[in-house]
Amino acid sequence: MTTKNKIALITGGSRGLGKNMALHLAKNGNDIIITYNSNKAAADEVVAQIQALGQKAAAFLLNVSDSKTYSSFFTTVGGYLSAETGSNKFDFLINNAGIEANAAIADTTEEAFDELYQVHFKGVYFLTQQALPFIKDNGRIINLSTGLARFVTPGYAAYASMKGAIEVFTKYLAKEVGPRGITANVVAPGIIQTDFTKAVFEHAPHVVKHIESQTALGRTGLPDDIGGIVAFLCTEEARWITAQRIEASGGMYL
Ligand SMILES: NC(=O)c1ccc[n+]([C@@H]2O[C@H](COP(=O)([O-])OP(=O)(O)OC[C@H]3O[C@@H](n4cnc5c(N)ncnc54)[C@H](OP(=O)(O)O)[C@@H]3O)[C@@H](O)[C@H]2O)c1
Repeated sequence: MTTKNKIALITGGSRGLGKNMALHLAKNGNDIIITYNSNKAAADEVVAQIQALGQKAAAFLLNVSDSKTYSSFFTTVGGYLSAETGSNKFDFLINNAGIEANAAIADTTEEAFDELYQVHFKGVYFLTQQALPFIKDNGRIINLSTGLARFVTPGYAAYASMKGAIEVFTKYLAKEVGPRGITANVVAPGIIQTDFTKAVFEHAPHVVKHIESQTALGRTGLPDDIGGIVAFLCTEEARWITAQRIEASGGMYL
């Protein structure tokens, strides 16, 4: 890695939105570190695509469900960065990794709730805490929320509550990291076609049609509708945006 390029760390960059963010950030001239949980082959493919764009890239294993591993994860990433750039720091943290879960409140198990809590809220909170010493001054932190934190679709109470917590967390984060020139924002996508939403797109076309009819721009989203927004938030031009929730849903359920 050359030191002049900015470096983005994207959790869950092996597929879906994280992969798209990684490619958009690379097209903007940034070097990229992605993480994967189980899908090393997909992560390696993303690394190859980024390298083909002329940027440096690496993929590391990270299970956000296991907070105890965060410290060794940053030791590994810091070691890699030191070897490549002479500094163990990076510029942009994008907390993207996530899991889908759908259950009515009446049917939600404590186990399912705890997993969502760990992946979507506690994990983001403590991964960010541990990342702070490694993020350069004037860096950026971007957390992923969801349109479901604004509007209500039955079955997403636990998931959306964790994302709502992330929106509050991000405002507090913005205040605390502001003195270092670091911004913190939330990107909240509406429904996007990824593995995350595969079941809906493959098995519930009537739901997709309904959503399309209730979306100002008349369609559901694609990963390419999101990656560029995250890349923009990592540009110099976006330096004055902080503590914001930016919904990118095409105007879903207005
Ligand atoms: N798609 C949507 O409609 C939508 C809408 C709003 C918000 N979001 C949010 O956007 C983010 C990305 O969603 P997506 O649609 O891109 O999902 P996706 O296609 O299912 O990809 C999920 C990514 O997260 C990683 N991951 C899953 N569990 C993990 C764990 N325990 N530890 C670390 N990494 C883990 C996966 O890694 P592996 O490949 O190794 O499994 C993969 O890279 C999530 O935070 C989601 O809540 C999605």
